[in-house]
Amino acid sequence: MVKLGRNDSCWCGSGRKYKACHMAMDEKIHRYELEGHIVPPGNILKTEKQIQGIRESSVINMAVLDAVGEMIGPGVSTQQIDDVVTEVTARMGGIAAPLNYEGFPKSVCTSINEVVCHGIPSKDVILKDGDIINVDVSTLYKGYYSDSSRMYCIGQVSGEKRKLVEVTKECMELGLSMVKPWNFLGDMAQAVNDHARKNGYSVVVDIGGHGIGLEFHEEPFVSYVTSAGTEMLMVPGMVFTIEPMVNMGTSEIYVDDNDGWTVYTADGKPSAQWEITVAVTKDGYEVLTW
Ligand code: MF3
Ligand code: CO
Repeated sequence: MVKLGRNDSCWCGSGRKYKACHMAMDEKIHRYELEGHIVPPGNILKTEKQIQGIRESSVINMAVLDAVGEMIGPGVSTQQIDDVVTEVTARMGGIAAPLNYEGFPKSVCTSINEVVCHGIPSKDVILKDGDIINVDVSTLYKGYYSDSSRMYCIGQVSGEKRKLVEVTKECMELGLSMVKPWNFLGDMAQAVNDHARKNGYSVVVDIGGHGIGLEFHEEPFVSYVTSAGTEMLMVPGMVFTIEPMVNMGTSEIYVDDNDGWTVYTADGKPSAQWEITVAVTKDGYEVLTW
């Protein structure tokens, strides 16, 4: 990025002079960098106009998940979920981002029980009483990406699976509560991981969240197992996902050799995940998808 002069107009598009807008913030970031911290590169900080674009994409993203909530239940195939995602997204003027993403064959990820993530919808996979399923919807609208996922309990779910689903949601919320400028991503991660471990669960290490907005997956990689005070500094204008995968047993996972996508727990025990897209604001956070 070209170094801006004090009287140049700010990079954020506000129309104000740099010295009256983002100059102090940029200098503060630079001080953290000199202290050895990881700081966000300027090109991942979103302008207000870009955040507005992600908000609009998010409206579709959440409407799709609402529509899934209306139709999901015992006897429904994961292909029918895919159909609803495709249909509602298109009706609202969006595009389902997963379709053809690095060869992914469907419009949404549907991950049941011991499937950790990236489950592929199929007409042959029928939801049954007692299943827990994560439906992960990623939306592209007018060039802006949004990403969120929810857990759905199908029929009568056992107490121990229900607890996994609830604690995983709490993990996400506790992580969210740590999102504010000049905290670190590790502060958020430790809040997630501590709560999971306190409940006897483990957090997946090898797959995490990501920056998002102009691309589906942007910098930084967002871990949920790192320590407070480490990882990237949070700065106003950062947009990223909080999407911890929490396993009832071991954190070890493996990828299905046949389809190259489906991720399973190594011990076959259930896994849960909730995902939101969040923006760092001047004094805290804005949840864009829920
Ligand atoms: N929604 C997933 C995420 O949070 C992306 C899955 S990639 C796909 O990053 F191709 F499988 F959709
Ligand atoms: Co994501």
